[in-house]
Amino acid sequence: MKKPQNHTTYDEMFSKGGEQAPYQLPYFLSCYYPMYLAVLDVLKRTGSSRVLEVGCGTGGLAHLLKDRYPVEYIGIDFSSVAVEKAIKRTNNPDSFLVADALSPELYNSNLSTIVCTEVLEHIPQDLKLVELWPEGTHCICSVPNYDSQYHERFFKDEAEVIERYGELIEIDRIDRIKKPILENIAISNLLRHLRWNRYRPGRLLELLGFGDFDKVGGWFVFSGQRPSRKSSNH
Ligand SMILES: C[S@@+](CC[C@H](N)C(=O)[O-])C[C@H]1O[C@@H](n2cnc3c(N)ncnc32)[C@H](O)[C@@H]1O
Repeated sequence: MKKPQNHTTYDEMFSKGGEQAPYQLPYFLSCYYPMYLAVLDVLKRTGSSRVLEVGCGTGGLAHLLKDRYPVEYIGIDFSSVAVEKAIKRTNNPDSFLVADALSPELYNSNLSTIVCTEVLEHIPQDLKLVELWPEGTHCICSVPNYDSQYHERFFKDEAEVIERYGELIEIDRIDRIKKPILENIAISNLLRHLRWNRYRPGRLLELLGFGDFDKVGGWFVFSGQRPSRKSSNH
């Protein structure tokens, strides 16, 4: 059964999780790191200089950008616990805001890029959210190819992503990013798991990143521009 989600659900989740939970780890040790790198790649390619991150969580991507691609950045999330952790992680209190992504006033200012990773699949009104993003804005989003009790939906392939979001975003690129098997991708943790699984060849291959995208799970990172109203059917 799907779990209903509101900011309290996320506050509890972000307050609990131990130190090894992926959203508590340094970004470069988290299983989300490959997905963040794919976002960074698009930002660099498009030369984005101002980013609004919708559903920024505990600030993993914000921290990576601060270290490797400093841009004018604002992150919003409706979980105050997540925002607190993001501020602590980046030491940038002015860069984060507690707000519901579905508030239209968030999107009034001149934005160059909206980043929204691992959020759309949690929101029943995901299309309404994307419709709020101003025309001409470049968007970088990710959605998963696997189900979870927290997911409203997931996507089997690129065609399904285009079918759902293609009219709202002129998608020019979709990358498949495999999800690492381990939530903590530190070498020491990987070596430990390789030792434990030394008699399981299939598992060893998955640990080393050779698993099948459909089986081990992963994300579709897609990007493109919000069309002008004239060219949009909406
Ligand atoms: C799975 S986490 C992803 C966090 C981050 N984007 C990342 O990729 O690491 C989903 C985030 O979306 C936030 N979120 C979900 N619905 C939201 C809404 N309506 N308004 C603002 N934030 C929301 C949650 O609080 C949570 O931090």
